[in-house]
This record gives sequence, structure tokens and C-alpha cells, in this order.
Amino acid sequence: MEKSLEQIASLCKRRGFIFPSSEIYGGLNGFWDYGPMGSELKRNIRDAWWHFMVQWRDDVVGLDATIIMNPRIWEASGHVGGFADPMVDCKDCKKRHRADQLCEEQGLKLVQDGKGWKLPEGCKCTACGSKNLTEPRSFNLMFKTYVGPVEDDSSVAYLRPETAQAIFAQFLNIVPTSRKAVPFGVAQSGKSFRNEINPRNYTFRSREFEQMELEFFIRPDEAVELLCGHVATLADGPDLSGEPQDDWGWEVWHKYWVEQRLKWYRLAGLPQEDLHLYWQTKEELAHYARACVDIEYAFPFGVQELEGIAARSDFDLTQHQKHSGKSMEVMDDRLRLACATKSPEEKDAFRAKVVADWTARGKDPAAANAFVDGLFAGRYVPHVIEPSAGTDRLALALLCNAYDEEKLVDSKGKEDIRYVLRFSPALAPVKVAVLPLVKNKPELREKARDLYKKLQRKWKCAWDETGAIGRRYRRQDEIGTPFCVTVDFDTMGEGDDPALKDTVTLRFRDSMEQVRIPISELVAKIDAAIEL
Ligand code: GLY
Repeated sequence: MEKSLEQIASLCKRRGFIFPSSEIYGGLNGFWDYGPMGSELKRNIRDAWWHFMVQWRDDVVGLDATIIMNPRIWEASGHVGGFADPMVDCKDCKKRHRADQLCEEQGLKLVQDGKGWKLPEGCKCTACGSKNLTEPRSFNLMFKTYVGPVEDDSSVAYLRPETAQAIFAQFLNIVPTSRKAVPFGVAQSGKSFRNEINPRNYTFRSREFEQMELEFFIRPDEAVELLCGHVATLADGPDLSGEPQDDWGWEVWHKYWVEQRLKWYRLAGLPQEDLHLYWQTKEELAHYARACVDIEYAFPFGVQELEGIAARSDFDLTQHQKHSGKSMEVMDDRLRLACATKSPEEKDAFRAKVVADWTARGKDPAAANAFVDGLFAGRYVPHVIEPSAGTDRLALALLCNAYDEEKLVDSKGKEDIRYVLRFSPALAPVKVAVLPLVKNKPELREKARDLYKKLQRKWKCAWDETGAIGRRYRRQDEIGTPFCVTVDFDTMGEGDDPALKDTVTLRFRDSMEQVRIPISELVAKIDAAIEL
């Protein structure tokens, strides 16, 4: 079925998934709150990401850093100098636009030259049609604040615009305490803030949002070559579904993470055919990136990015090394031992190759020599692959994917619409609803209540005893509860068949099928269906 963002936003408001922030005061543009159902959904997304990226692996550890950090981090990362979008104002209707988006909406391209941005011929305000627009001006997206009681230049700090930088800034603490050796990664999820010029598409582009980021540190290709004698590339056809291999170069590691992330999105319930890969062109790549792939989802408002997976070389750690004065090199014992067995001739040939390669890329030969000296001693600044996902964007994608309206016809021919969120059971906000068939039979109610209390220790459950059973099922369908358990007279041994004592009706959301199962089998059955 065709789904509109309006239908989805309406259900989200109605059933407690997403509310405008501060709504009683008129809201605040670009800020959204997650209600009782939305907060469960987001928590499930975060948990599922953490399980897949950290808990189920040997080579990734976690971090939970502060949102406000020393502002020098953002100087080193380039955010103070360059984390900006181009902004234009319409001089007639006063509407403010992000210049690149304004151009894109009209099939035009914003011009960028050495002096800055320029609007192309023919660009007009999409709100009023006027061509009377200001020149694009650079607008830094970081939210500024002051730390402590004095508001001056020395107390300026920023709300983090990405979670990634804290991982680089804590690298020297994480390496010895985690006892991990390269290749290994550090994962973090949490809030980030960007003062977007034009928040839009519901929660898709918000000013306060959540990220789930991994920085996966790898050996520079030159270290791989010294260790393994060669560097595997994609042309070698490596098996990306198995265990990572020592001889993988950055290109293979990058593709490996693209495949891992696609696998995770499929587990989360997004169909493969709605996921697209966009490989950024050379011109689009950030200056530090060697490659970047966007995983995109077909939202009702267009195909848009869920996650970017970038190969960032050693840019970030090197920047922090320069700005902090602290060495970000690791000691790689396996590399050191491998180099100790090389002959002087082998080392000379390797050095000559690296120096020639660096010089051809316009780099300083002295730096190449220092790099090679470090490698021979087992030292280098690790390179990094960064899969960076948007939690809110995924929540919206899951809501869009799950939303369904099903036309039903009852036995009397009456038509009805069933609203249903077909979440994968692992991510559904509520896993099980327990429903006593009637509420005026104390023993039956108590039996249902006991079962509910037991299941609640395992999963987020719902209790509903009001209204006809059919209506109660529909309420659960609308929030995407995959299982409803009904306790009735048969459960009490008071039905026609005494053998049905201690059995319940288990009703499945998607098929609406109902089966009778013993209470003793309930947990195992639901557990199996909920597994990610
Ligand atoms: N760390 C990449 C991003 O926030 O987009």
C-alpha cells in the first residue's frame, strides 16, 4: 500500500510513539519527544545495535562519553572551522533556506569555488517564487554554550555534533584498559546536536538526535603488507561473511562493515529491496575520506540516508595527535616481531616503495621515512572505518516499514480497516499482551494477572482488561504487539474440555491466527520468535 508520512505521524501521535517537543507551548522546530511506545522502540533499537556490534563480538568495546567536552576537540576535528551549511534568505518573504537543498529542489546545483558558495542562475525562493535572494552565507551547525558562571570566549563549549570524536579523544585510555589490539573497535550511542537551518521530514532531520557509531581501528595497509607479505583487496574476492582476516586492507574492511550493517538492517526487519547503497563519488568525499557508502532507505518522502560508512584513514587520530601533543600510536607486537625477521634488503626495498608511493601522492618523503621507521618498530597511528547510524532515522524507517492498513470484512459483510504495525518481534515496543477474557471473575483475572507478572520479568508486556476481546486485539495491533495471550474459562478448567486446563490462546498479530498452547510452553515459544 502507498503510505504517507501524514498517516504514519498521525498514528505515532495517537498511540504514543512521537510527540512534538514542548507541545503545550507551541513546540520547538526540529525537536521531538518519544512517548511510552516510542521510547520502548528506541531502546530496542539501541539494544539490538549494541548486541550485534558489541556484545556478540570479541573485537568491539563500548564508551559512554559526555555530550559537552573540551572545545579543543572540535578544533582538532575540523568542526569549529568547517562544520557549516550554506544559508540563504529570501529578501521578499524572509524565508530562510539551506542553499544546497533550495538548489536541489529546483534541479540546480550550488556552485562552490575557492571564495565560497554561489547560487546558480535561475535559483528562486520556493516559498514565494522571488529571485531576490541573499548570497549564501556559511552557518556553523554546532550549538554553543558556556561552561561555568562567566559567559566569555574562554568558557565557550559546544554540544557534540557527533558521538565519534569522544572515541578518538579517549583512545589512549581505551587501548590499555580494554587490552584490545588493532584491529578492534569502540562503539558509542547517544545524543548529538546540530542546529539545522531547515529541519524537515518529521523526525528525519532534527536538531537534537541520536547516533549509533562505531570507530573500527585497523592497521595501515603498509603494516598489513609487512605482516602478511601482501594486502588483500576486493579484487581478491575475500569471503566477507566469515571471520575477518589478517591480510585485509582498508578496502576489504570497509566492504566488510557495509555487509555487516546491511545484515543488521535486515535482522531489524527492513526488507533488502528497500535498502539502497550509495557510493559517494570522489568529488563528494570529505577530504579525509577514502571511501564512503550511504545505506539509504526508501522513505515515503524519498530515498534518504540511514547510515554512512566511511573509511577515514588516520585523519582523526592524527589530528588529535597534532592538537593534543599526545602520541596516538599503538604498539603492534605481531608487526614488531614480523619486522624483526626481515632482512636489511627486504626492509630497504619496502622503504623505497613506501617513500615513492607517498612522494607520488604529494606527501613529504621525510614523513614517509619516519612512518616506515615506526612500522619497523611495530608502531603506527591506526586507520579507521566508521559505520555511523542515525537512531531516530531508523526508528522512523521501522515505523514506515511496519505501518499497514488492512481491509477486513466480517461475517456479516461489514467492512473495517485494521491498523497494524508489523514490527519485527525483536524490536516491537511491547512483546506480549495478556488479556483476561472477562474481568468480573476474580480467579480468572488473578490467573491472568499472575501470568502477566511472570512474563513482565522477561519482556515489556501489556495488560488490558477493558472492552471486547476483538477491540483489545486491535489496540495491540496498532502498537505492533506481536503476541496476545488470552486467559479464558478453558484455562481455568471450566470450559467444555477439562483437558484444556492451564492452556491459553496465543494470537499472532500478522496472521491473526490463534492457537491453544499450554502455559508451560509459552515462554519458549515466544522467546524463539523474539530472537534477533
Ligand atoms: N561521525 C559521522 C557523522 O556524525 O556524520
